[in-house]
This record gives sequence, C-alpha cells and structure tokens, in this order.
Amino acid sequence: ETVEWEAASYDMGGHDTYMHKEISEQPDAVDRVLRGRIDDRFSTVHLGGLNLDAREARTIRRIKILGCGTSYHAGMIGASLIEGMARIPADAEPASEFRYRNPVVDPDTLYIAVSQSGETYDVLAAVQELKRKGARVLGVVNVVGSAIAREADGGVYVHAGPEVCVVSTKCFTNTVVAFALLALHLGRIRDLSVTDGKRIIEGLRKLPEQISEILKLEDEIKELAAEYAGAQSMMFIGRVRGYPVALEASLKLKEISYIHAEAYPASELKHGPLALIEPALPTVAIVPDDDLLEKNRAALEEIKARSGRILAVAHQEQEKADHTIVVPKNEDELDPILMGIPLQLFAYHTALAMGRDIDKPRNLAKSVTVE
Ligand code: G6P
Repeated sequence: ETVEWEAASYDMGGHDTYMHKEISEQPDAVDRVLRGRIDDRFSTVHLGGLNLDAREARTIRRIKILGCGTSYHAGMIGASLIEGMARIPADAEPASEFRYRNPVVDPDTLYIAVSQSGETYDVLAAVQELKRKGARVLGVVNVVGSAIAREADGGVYVHAGPEVCVVSTKCFTNTVVAFALLALHLGRIRDLSVTDGKRIIEGLRKLPEQISEILKLEDEIKELAAEYAGAQSMMFIGRVRGYPVALEASLKLKEISYIHAEAYPASELKHGPLALIEPALPTVAIVPDDDLLEKNRAALEEIKARSGRILAVAHQEQEKADHTIVVPKNEDELDPILMGIPLQLFAYHTALAMGRDIDKPRNLAKSVTVE
C-alpha cells in the first residue's frame, strides 16, 4: 500500500526549483512533525507508532541507527541526541556497510532504520536481515506505508511532506527533529529530568520561528555563494555535534554544485587536512556558542595562520572568519538543526551561480531501490 500525495503539493508554488520550495517549507514542516506529540504535563512526547512500552524502553542497552546519504547524516545527529538525552550508547552507520559486514545482532540493541523514501534497497535489506535474526527494528521514515515503514516493528513518521528535489533538505531537518522527539521520549522514561524535558520542549517549539529567521538571510547567503562559486574544493569542519552538520553541508554542496568538498571533525585537522589549507581552499566552519566554542575558535586560528579563507556559521561574529553567518541560538542539543539550514541555501546559490541542474543533479537518483 502506498499513499498518493496530493497533486497540488507537487506544484512549485512560485519557486524556480523544488529545492528552493522545499527549503522554504521547513518552518511548516517542522511544525507538522511536532504537532500533537508534545505532552506538557509530563514534559515528554507521545509517539503513537513506536510500539515500545516504557518497560521495554528501559531494557535497551544500545541503539544502532542505519541509513544512506543524507538520512545517514540525520541518523548521526539522532545518535548524539539519543546519547545526550537518554544516555543510551548510540551510533549511526551506513546501512550498506552494516549489511555487508555480518554484524553481531544483539538482543538488547534497538535498531533504527532511517529513510526519506522508505524504499532505499540497502536500508530495506539491512532491516530484513535484522528481522530475520530476531532484532527489534524501528523506522524513522517520511513516506507513509513505504516498504521500510511496513517492514519495521514500529517507528516515527517524519511528516516532511513530499520531497521532489533529488537532494534532501526539509526531510533531513524533519528527520533530525523526529530523532529529538524520540530522544526526549526515551530520555524521560530513563534519566532525563522534568526540567531538562521542559527545556528541550521549549527549544523544539522555537524551531519553526527560528528557521524562518534564518531563511531571511537568503540575500546575504546568495552574495557569499557568488564569491565561493569559483572554488575548486572546499573544506567543512565541525566538532562533536557540529561534525554531522559539516558532513551534510559538504554532501549538499557536492551533490548539486559538483564542487569537491570534504568534511572533517575540527579536532582532526592537525592530523592531516591542515596540509591542504591555503588561500585557494576555503573552509566552512560550524561554530556554535557552546562548551566547545574556544576549541573551535582555536581551529579557526590555525586555518587563518595558513591564510585560509573562512566562512563561519555561528551564534556570534567570529573574528577569525572572513564571513560569519549568524544564526539564532537554541538549546545546545538542538542547535545542529538550525546550523545546517543556511548551508542548504549556500549550496543552492553556489550551484545556481554555476548554472547547475539543481533538482536533478547528474548521476544521482532520488531513491536507489536497487543493489
Ligand atoms: C539517494 C538520494 C539521497 C538520499 C539517499 C537515501 O542517494 O540521492 O539524497 O539521501 O538516497 O535516501 P532515503 O530515501 O533512504 O532517505
């Protein structure tokens, strides 16, 4: 059974591309994934389709998240949200790697498959292999009734609405928000306090408005993109929570502009990539105002000392950066959701300046349903 989307939602609605439309839809999309799920009385969230009661949730000893491409990156942020709020060891792995390495399937591990389409073959095959071995598998999926949604024991729908552009934007954001809801839910069953639960809920509620604020920076970002559009290659760095943001931003740039880009944890710079830094290799740095701010600033200094050009995404102007895109601050845990959004626009305008076919990049498909 598949659900047909309304024909009207495929309309470009005045935008030049689906990607632009989908980036712009994010405040509403995030509103949808939150709607009806927040429980202020117990500072938690209700996730109707989870099929996991509190007693079962307490027995989980580990969480393994599987996905491909952008969904894998969303899963990486999901893992850090779950570890942070629920204090359950969690990590993400590309589904394709997982299924080919004959993984140890542990009964106390909860597996979570992430997929926009719900049809990606590598993810589906991983889910089927896991189920055959008796594992419990949840889905974090956008398309209702898709193969992965049907195969999973339960899960969380992402409610991003139809995504037409080959590269994922609004679904990425909504997937991360869905993980924040799951993390809060698991956290409140385990050791997350009422106060922290409230704090996260307040942060979640601020997201749509803050995303709208970021979307207003489009003209500024467009100008920056025109400056960087000639680059041969770009470096993206972030630390801990910022690293998957850097990975996803570099993927977005590669996919639609065809500019070579690499993402590194800022802490790894000195172990190799620093050798690449020179004026012709610009760096995009994720610099949230959190306990790692000073560490991140030190990385910017290292780059500046080698005459590297820096574009920072931060909560305040960065002295060492050539440009800072200043975004609104949320709770530390939720900042990665916001910090990726200006870089969607950055990739978009860079690709546009280079005359690329943004909605249908060469060699790529919206969903890869074959091996
Ligand atoms: C393809 C698309 C990517 C997407 C990936 C996973 O490679 O080009 O944009 O992230 O598949 O797709 P899924 O539908 O499973 O999220």
